[in-house]
Amino acid sequence: MHSLSTLLPFASHTIDSLEEEIEFTQVMADLVQTHSDTISILARGFLEARRYISPAEVTRFLDEHLRARIGTRLIAEQHIALHFSSKPHNRLSSDKAPASTESSYIGAIDTSLRPADTIRLCESMVGDITEYRYGVRPEVVIDGVPEYTFAHIPMHLEYIITELFKNSFRAQIENGMEREPIEVTIAPAPEEPERRGHGGMGGGYRHEGISNYDQGSVDFASGANKPEISASANIRPLEKQTPGVTIRIRDRGGGISPAVVEKLWDYGFTTFNEDEINDATGSGSGDGGMGAMYTQSGGASSIAGLGYGLPLGRAYAEYFGGGIAVQSLWGWGTDIYLSLRGVGIDKIDSKKDGGHD
Ligand SMILES: Nc1ncnc2c1ncn2[C@@H]1O[C@H](COP(=O)(O)OP(=O)(O)OP(=O)(O)O)[C@@H](O)[C@H]1O
Ligand SMILES: [Mg+2]
Repeated sequence: MHSLSTLLPFASHTIDSLEEEIEFTQVMADLVQTHSDTISILARGFLEARRYISPAEVTRFLDEHLRARIGTRLIAEQHIALHFSSKPHNRLSSDKAPASTESSYIGAIDTSLRPADTIRLCESMVGDITEYRYGVRPEVVIDGVPEYTFAHIPMHLEYIITELFKNSFRAQIENGMEREPIEVTIAPAPEEPERRGHGGMGGGYRHEGISNYDQGSVDFASGANKPEISASANIRPLEKQTPGVTIRIRDRGGGISPAVVEKLWDYGFTTFNEDEINDATGSGSGDGGMGAMYTQSGGASSIAGLGYGLPLGRAYAEYFGGGIAVQSLWGWGTDIYLSLRGVGIDKIDSKKDGGHD
């Protein structure tokens, strides 16, 4: 309700001055900030209400709600990021160092994101957690094509890899295999053949594009944004299929039992024990100090316990047409296949002229 009433005033008029745009961006930034802890709050709520709502109902609700949340936040974050990188604002707030002209970023998108860098970053973050909790820090080895880069949202990739590493690190430690390295293989997908023309087997692409109407972004209530807006307003498929990558994470954590495999994608399913769950959601009794501090960022700093890591990670991966598949070798270890498509933008050429000499 609060977010809605904050945003409504902006819906009734067009933003047409720089000052108004700055004000709008500030509001967006506040909203993004306000809702950054939503996941752990929701998780705690559903945990408290678990006697009244079945796991299937919870998963159905959260799957839709959290996917919508990914989209809403991405749009807001993209607006904020573009705001800060746009030239007029740079001039207005001259205290900031001039943004590098060589930046590979377009808003929140990194057009040359290197998964190997994200993997190293997440290795160190998750290593900190396991070191704090268990006193050990499993190692990650990267093979395949570590120099591969593609266009994606760094925040999304970071979220997914962190969740997958938390699971693998925990499994290896609990299985007494913390000395074994976790193997990560980066495998760029081969180039796909050019897309075929009309009526071909082009995988169901519709050349007339996707209309605002199809997407549900037509506001019937206010009559704005009329459905009969010309076809030029439609979103058209890209000329070329975006490149993609598959990242395999292989651990020696003993695998996942067949009974657990069935429930992996349920929100709230975890094999972490109850006391630790309370710890993770910050609702443990008499532990307002350390416990609360370590759970500030939506439970991200605890090793496990919410049962949101896999389903939410998959929602992020699927957002741009990727996915997560789990292959458990029960009694030995687990392979996770994370596939991601590059987000559909052409590489910026300005990078070439601004490069090193
Ligand atoms: N690599 C793995 N090896 C063994 N078991 C795993 C692995 N990954 C997931 N699991 C099992 O699947 C369960 C669900 O994983 P998920 O990441 O969704 O939730 P979680 O780790 O329990 O909590 P969190 O929300 O903090 O991630 C885990 O509790 C664990 O039992
Ligand atoms: Mg997890």
